[in-house]
Amino acid sequence: MVSREVNDLLTQTDKGTPMGELFRQYWIPALLTEELPENDCPPVRVKLLGEKMIAFRDTKGRYGLVEEFCPHRRVSLWFGRNEDCGLRCAYHGWKFDVEGNCVEIPSDPEKDEFRNSIKLVAYPLVKVGDILWTHMGDPATRPPEPAWEFCTVAPEQTVSTKRLQENNWLQALEGGIDSNHVSFLHSHELERDPLFRGSKGNKYNLDDLSPVFELTRSGGGFYIGARRNVEGGKYYWRVTQFVMPYFTMIPPRGDHPQHGHFWVPVDDEHCMTWSYDYHPKRPLTFDERKACLDGKGVHVAVIPDGSFRSIQNKDNDYLIDRAAQKRGETFSGVLGFGMQDASVQESMGPIVDRSRENLVASDMGIAMVRNLLRKSVLELKEKGILPPGREREHQMVRSVSVLLEPDQNYVDACKNEMVADASRARVTV
Ligand code: FES
Ligand SMILES: [Fe+2]
Repeated sequence: MVSREVNDLLTQTDKGTPMGELFRQYWIPALLTEELPENDCPPVRVKLLGEKMIAFRDTKGRYGLVEEFCPHRRVSLWFGRNEDCGLRCAYHGWKFDVEGNCVEIPSDPEKDEFRNSIKLVAYPLVKVGDILWTHMGDPATRPPEPAWEFCTVAPEQTVSTKRLQENNWLQALEGGIDSNHVSFLHSHELERDPLFRGSKGNKYNLDDLSPVFELTRSGGGFYIGARRNVEGGKYYWRVTQFVMPYFTMIPPRGDHPQHGHFWVPVDDEHCMTWSYDYHPKRPLTFDERKACLDGKGVHVAVIPDGSFRSIQNKDNDYLIDRAAQKRGETFSGVLGFGMQDASVQESMGPIVDRSRENLVASDMGIAMVRNLLRKSVLELKEKGILPPGREREHQMVRSVSVLLEPDQNYVDACKNEMVADASRARVTV
């Protein structure tokens, strides 16, 4: 449970809010590269941290992310013409380049001084992997570009998708670090989904429904260890990586690709759930890639209209199948990992009231991550201390699933294996 004040502190991310300023210390995923597929293609609306923006790719292939509304009379630049190295407003033809500079005012061609005083808010947009990333904070403290392993391996080893989720970013993140719900909400999915089925770890997950959690601080966040009893007196450990403020990597299962999420605030009542699958040692098979793009595994099928809203959504009760639930084919009646998560998280309301919760021992990860977020937000606000997780070394992480003897410490035993190193095999059960 947290107070209403702390709840507000952690869930509000508009410009000028303490959590909003924290998010502005990081590179965040803004678009899939396929959304801007070629030079001079149509511009795309993007909303992040409460700011409405337009992304475009100019004649020379440069990417731009600028505020949405034309400084002349506030028309949306989404209607603009993307031509000859700039975005031209559809109303009276003012034109802007990728850095937000006003390069032409057709009605007043002689007034350079006035034109030079006009500038759109603009943020950088860089391609790393199959994602375009932006940094919306002070350029003076801009961190190095993203170094997550999933977006630095060869293109054939990785795939990313995104979907709009209709609730605050934090309750989505909290689902991502809550390993306990897998044995309930997702229980039937483990052996049905092509990106999960067949691993020994699935059985361990389902045989012990009271995992013991052990969190350890990592450079960028936490190692979230969940321990289950298995045959022979050993422990089955699943270690999720959480890196500040919004990255998770779920432990692998067998030789399946491994996956995780970014939970990116769109505004206080919506977030973009980014999902990736990658294998650090081999290309994804045709079937694995197709399964991800079809919405299997942690991915979700979305309406193909650019909204990234899921086909199963709250307006159709996520296509819940009560008969399948009764027959024991799904735990909740909703099909698919991603929609099972979204349905329960959206059901909490746009911003859950955490002052009315009753946490138990298996919620320890959630409580500790909230504490780290709160501490980091306040240290930034009050002392100007930059938060962890911005450095490349903090992003070079892997999650693991492993069998250990009871007297082994999971961090000591897997120290090297929890670092992303292309020469090293994964540890997975
Ligand atoms: S409103 Fe954009 S040019 Fe007039
Ligand atoms: Fe889940």
